[in-house]
Amino acid sequence: MGPFVTNPLHADPNALLSVSDLSVSVEDGQILHDVNLTVDRGSANVLMGPNGAGKSTLGHVIMGDGAYTVDSGAIAFDGEDVTALSADKRSLAGIFLSFQAPVEIPGVPLYSFLRSITQKRPELKMSARKFRQRVRELCESLDMDPSYLTRELNVGFSGGEKKKVEMLQLLLLEPKLAILDETDSGLDVDALGVVSRGIQRFREECDGALLVITHNTRILERLAVDRVHVMVDGTIVAHGGGDLVERIDAEGFEAYERRAAESRGA
Ligand SMILES: Nc1ncnc2c1ncn2[C@@H]1O[C@H](COP(=O)(O)OP(=O)(O)OP(=O)(O)O)[C@@H](O)[C@H]1O
Ligand SMILES: [Mg+2]
Repeated sequence: MGPFVTNPLHADPNALLSVSDLSVSVEDGQILHDVNLTVDRGSANVLMGPNGAGKSTLGHVIMGDGAYTVDSGAIAFDGEDVTALSADKRSLAGIFLSFQAPVEIPGVPLYSFLRSITQKRPELKMSARKFRQRVRELCESLDMDPSYLTRELNVGFSGGEKKKVEMLQLLLLEPKLAILDETDSGLDVDALGVVSRGIQRFREECDGALLVITHNTRILERLAVDRVHVMVDGTIVAHGGGDLVERIDAEGFEAYERRAAESRGA
């Protein structure tokens, strides 16, 4: 077999992200098995699957979380094999992950945090004044009180406020790929609207690709979904168009789980 067959960089020229035959484990055992997933440039993707399927794990592994061991397979991003790169380097390359449970950083005011993450990016260089204007404008569009900017990062923030902080980071960093893990969980109707407008803005202004991990199809109502990927038991079992969201919403994952169990037994 020639190198062009196995090299993930040659899989598809339109692909921004290409995950090939990825198997991942932790000390307790294997979590992901031979995962294959392609995200095209600028496309909106949804990753669905039952609790414990491995969706968050996949998001963290794409971001380069050192808690997981890649046993085999590869991750290519924007024409580069990033499988061995640190999370920091992947972030610089343009990958963004919003956490299912955002971390709190005592002692670091939100504003300083935002300034420091943007200053790491040569392409986002701007004057202190311009940065202040940009942050204020984003706060307004996210319906976020600017007084939060002086508070310690996420400390004592409500669930909804933490999610808004993540949207703020997303819109400041303008990544090429945003992986949003349960960005909607625990949001009230108004906050859900704010977050989905933030996602919309990211799509329009940054032309970024999205991989949304969710159980809540309401967040997807405003989003034109290009591809849906279904994960069961640590592997992707189906891909489809946006219509799959509604079908799964109505029918659940049972049929996919049954088929996955059958193929394991076979
Ligand atoms: N760091 C870890 N150490 C040990 N086990 C882990 C770790 N991370 C994930 N797992 C296990 O891997 C499996 C998949 O977890 P993961 O969080 O990826 O699921 P999920 O699809 O995101 O589920 P949910 O829809 O509930 O968020 C679970 O059984 C989980 O306990
Ligand atoms: Mg999860």
